[in-house]
Amino acid sequence: MPYPFKGQLNPIETLPNPLLPTKEVLELGKRKFLTYCSPCHGNFADGVSSLRGQFPNPPTLHSQRARDFSDGMIYHIIVNGQNIMPSYQSQTTVEERWAIVHYIRALQRAKNAKLTDLQEVKKESQLNVK
Ligand code: HEC
Repeated sequence: MPYPFKGQLNPIETLPNPLLPTKEVLELGKRKFLTYCSPCHGNFADGVSSLRGQFPNPPTLHSQRARDFSDGMIYHIIVNGQNIMPSYQSQTTVEERWAIVHYIRALQRAKNAKLTDLQEVKKESQLNVK
């Protein structure tokens, strides 16, 4: 599938995420994130990885900047790479890239959980007990 913004540094437009963050999509995203992204960005996307100190430190994906990226911008960076980060277009399918984006969103939300998120988890675990 041709990607319309290939090669652009700061695309003005980005694509919307066509996938819903279902359990299956998040599991796919986790698998691919742990394969292709975590060696540099760390298992929790906080930039703590085995490459720390050997390579210009990969940034955390929990910065305000990365949290403010649209889903399409993260997808764009996976396709294009960014500065010294290489493109991961040939290693990932379209679906896998969008799944990785959802997984990064889940990591970002987990690190910045709000009280209402905790209440939701509590409600769910109570439901599971019954
Ligand atoms: C070889 C190490 C490496 C791998 C593997 C890697 N990245 Fe990166 N990534 C970097 C570096 C270094 C930067 C910072 C580049 C720069 O200076 O602009 C970066 C930047 C980013 C940014 C932009 C962050 C910002 O604040 O500008 C995102 C988003 C990102 N990477 C996502 C990913 C995803 C998703 C994957 C897996 C598909 C991945 N990266 C794999 C090294 C890596």
